[in-house]
Amino acid sequence: MQIEVRTARADDEVALARIDRLTWSSGGSPAPPPPPGAPFFGDRVGPGAVLVAEADGVVAGYVAVGNSLPVPAHRHVREIRGLAVDPDHVGHGIGRALVTAAVDREARAGTVKVTLRVLGPNAAARRVYEACGFEVEGVLRGEFRIDGHLVDDVLMATFPGSRR
Ligand SMILES: CC(C)(COP(=O)(O)OP(=O)(O)OC[C@H]1O[C@@H](n2cnc3c(N)ncnc32)[C@H](O)[C@@H]1OP(=O)(O)O)[C@@H](O)C(=O)NCCC(=O)NCCS
Repeated sequence: MQIEVRTARADDEVALARIDRLTWSSGGSPAPPPPPGAPFFGDRVGPGAVLVAEADGVVAGYVAVGNSLPVPAHRHVREIRGLAVDPDHVGHGIGRALVTAAVDREARAGTVKVTLRVLGPNAAARRVYEACGFEVEGVLRGEFRIDGHLVDDVLMATFPGSRR
């Protein structure tokens, strides 16, 4: 399988909204499922903030990166805000390729630190992030109540410039 990662375009909207709908689960996100017909791109996430993976020419996943705090003192930090791979294409290294490309792009742009939040039980996502150099910085214990259970929110980060 040929995997190519590129910046998203506005005409990826339908494919990305579909992947968001297909991949939502309470194991991956504390937010409610996207309502039917919800647009993928919006004020918070535009095409320039998203990298798309194509598997043999078909959009198979995405990673979105943005600023987490709108203050100048935090400009050197960027946050992974979304990562999803079409269930038909999981387990082929697309998640890793996306996160690696996102971190490399941030490094080239001079970003000092890339952060993210992941649910404690989301083992596949945590494996991808660890493989891409992210380390756990802290755990917000019992941060969410999901399906009646308290679930940890794990804070991870990498410093791409220092290649730690
Ligand atoms: C998480 C996700 C993006 C991974 O995509 P992917 O293309 O399958 O990722 P990769 O193939 O690059 O790597 C998956 C890794 O997880 C591992 N893995 C898969 N299921 C696992 C599990 N239940 N427990 C532990 N590791 C698991 C795989 O073995 C692989 O690790 P390896 O390369 O060391 O063998 C995808 O499963 C997904 O879209 N999940 C739903 C959305 C989500 O949870 N997003 C993250 C929000 S923070």
